[in-house]
Amino acid sequence: MRNRDAKRLFSHETTACAIIWALVEIARHPDIQQRLREEITAARANQAIGESDASMINSLPYLHAFVLELFRLYPSIPLSSKEAKRNLVICDQFIPKGTQIQIPVYAMNRLQDIWGPSAAEFRPERWMKDSQAGETPDSVNKAADLKNLLTFGYGSRSCPGREFAPRVIKSFLVVLLSAFQFEADGENIEFATSLPTIRPMHGAPLYVRPIH
Ligand code: HEM
Repeated sequence: MRNRDAKRLFSHETTACAIIWALVEIARHPDIQQRLREEITAARANQAIGESDASMINSLPYLHAFVLELFRLYPSIPLSSKEAKRNLVICDQFIPKGTQIQIPVYAMNRLQDIWGPSAAEFRPERWMKDSQAGETPDSVNKAADLKNLLTFGYGSRSCPGREFAPRVIKSFLVVLLSAFQFEADGENIEFATSLPTIRPMHGAPLYVRPIH
């Protein structure tokens, strides 16, 4: 794959995968869906004259927490590869120049040591600043942003779309949740194993009903 094609894939495919998993979790959790819709409806009703939709959408705390939880459980690129450009020591471990390093982002984002006993559960509340979820690390509660995740990489070569992608996903969800109700059809949706992105192996069958 050429470098330019790879970068195009990084932007479209990753965002599309995240939106699919967002709809899957919304359909699986009617309570979360309801809370998101209520937050969106209230914000629309109270939107100040002159306030842009973008500004309104980005001020919604539960939607923000939802998107962070989405990036935690469904990092579109689940495995990141790096090569050591010089000799390094990381956590007392000597790493010679040229070593290939695989960073298992998917696994790290689900580690119970970091995220507590509810690590495998989709719980947007863990990102809320006033969260009562005692098992959530303080650093997560205090920062409540992407710095706590490697979903977009980190450092000088991290994803330049890391601010843009959440905005795109939030905008999609605001439009979709205002118009449609999503329901799961009860089937367990499996991951596809093909890298570089994670997607549902056999599609994501959902029922979609207009609200009005
Ligand atoms: C959910 C959405 C997205 C995710 C999870 C994601 C994730 C990533 C990751 C993990 C990398 C590699 C970072 C590293 O090697 O440390 C990356 C690179 C990149 N991403 Fe994203 N990305 C997303 C959306 C986007 C969007 C919307 C754009 C463009 C508007 C974009 C543009 C790029 C580019 C150009 C690179 C290559 C950067 C470089 O090589 O220096 N990504 N992305």
